[in-house]
Amino acid sequence: MSLKLTRRNFAQLIAGSTAAAVLPSATPNSEAQTPAATDRTFPQGFLWGSATASYQVEGAVKEGGRGPTVWDTFSHTPGKTANGDTGDNADDFYHRYREDVKLMQDLGLKTCRFSVAWSRIFPTGTGQPNQPGVDFYRKLVDTLLEHGVEPYATLYHWDLPQPLQDRGGWENRDTAKAFADYAGYISGKLQPQVKHFMTTNEISTFTELGYGSGTHAPGLQVGPKRLAQLTHHAVLGHGMAVRAIRASAPGAMVGLAENPRATVPVIEDAEHIKAAHIAMREENAQYLGVILGGKYTDYYLKTKGQGLQFTPEDLSIISSPLDFVGTNIYQPTYVRAADNAIGYEVVQNPSSYPHMLSPWLTVGPEALYWGPKLVYENWHPKALYITENGCSSADQVAPDGHVYDTDRVMYFRNYLTQLQRAVAEGVPVKGYFLWSLLDNYEWADGYEKRFGITYVDFKTQQRIPKLSAMLYKQIIANNRVM
Ligand code: GCO
Repeated sequence: MSLKLTRRNFAQLIAGSTAAAVLPSATPNSEAQTPAATDRTFPQGFLWGSATASYQVEGAVKEGGRGPTVWDTFSHTPGKTANGDTGDNADDFYHRYREDVKLMQDLGLKTCRFSVAWSRIFPTGTGQPNQPGVDFYRKLVDTLLEHGVEPYATLYHWDLPQPLQDRGGWENRDTAKAFADYAGYISGKLQPQVKHFMTTNEISTFTELGYGSGTHAPGLQVGPKRLAQLTHHAVLGHGMAVRAIRASAPGAMVGLAENPRATVPVIEDAEHIKAAHIAMREENAQYLGVILGGKYTDYYLKTKGQGLQFTPEDLSIISSPLDFVGTNIYQPTYVRAADNAIGYEVVQNPSSYPHMLSPWLTVGPEALYWGPKLVYENWHPKALYITENGCSSADQVAPDGHVYDTDRVMYFRNYLTQLQRAVAEGVPVKGYFLWSLLDNYEWADGYEKRFGITYVDFKTQQRIPKLSAMLYKQIIANNRVM
């Protein structure tokens, strides 16, 4: 049976009418379908939300005493970003957050993951705090709570204050200490309203792309040895921040948002599943591995981590106990069993492998089953969240004014079906933060790669909820994949 989506029912749903009003009427075989639909239900209280990051949405880069960051410098350097796009204005969230929080409420979001811009709180990274910056996030938190949306705060989503980069950035071990000082300070100011803090977002991205390939800020290519050392400083910064947050926000839940390579067995049989299990540990050895396991693997120390300088005390700080682990999962890393020293091999996709608008974003819904499952089975964190999942598509406003992002709908439906499979098997995933509520500044890809379930006209700042927003609203209202 085809679900005919008319212009009228689309508009009704977006405007807040009940899901039932637009569901197709029952068909003779709908009862037979009911059990399967019920099977895709999530546990009661599952937390549905959206995720965002300061530089990608806020704009207002020179307002409220905000200091410059590596992303301001990088995006203003000719040739570094698509079309020379910068986050100077982005979604103007700094001024429009009330309107956007209202959008969250309309969709029924239970939670919102946002990030604090370090340089709004400490404009030069250290020293005297900046009260207007603190006030901005306090107002945002209050507004979220007034609209029934639980705030989850990330404290570092890549916007390192430029003065710290001028002293070496993450290559300088002192940056870890500066991060912990800032994390302790701001968590103290945002608690008790904010009950969940994440230290860093995607350590592998800001280290490997920022200092390895140089395709993200600060745009350096330092070579493998220095890369391994600065990565150690970043995980150390995370651990020091965990302790600082616990000291200033007692009772808060503390975790992080990582993007483990989501290893997926090429075939779901015993030998490839075992390979994917080992690969989860080895492919993420210098990130989640050391954070959750408290040590680097022998293989890592013999390969990428050769010559790494660290102490046992570092390892105990890095592996400070966490209340939860957030995983950002977009695409699969296929793994097969192999007769080599490590027992697996990563399988390269052929050029015909399907991807979304961003070429890196290959489609593999099973990543949302195997990713959390293998993180859990390797390290047994107390609780897990999917702190990001989403996709880019070539959205266009149709003549009727709507955005029919059928590819994004396909993506979410299939990924969430796999997530439900993991949850139903007992993997303790407590919530899902969709990336993202709004189209926003996609780093070096500028504004071309849209990830929102709400279309943003960047000239007028008009927001148009897309078809995927309607899907998400229904999923939340029914607590099951629709
Ligand atoms: C991330 C990124 C987001 C991206 C998103 C889509 O944490 O991966 O933080 O900022 O916009 O992942 O690429």
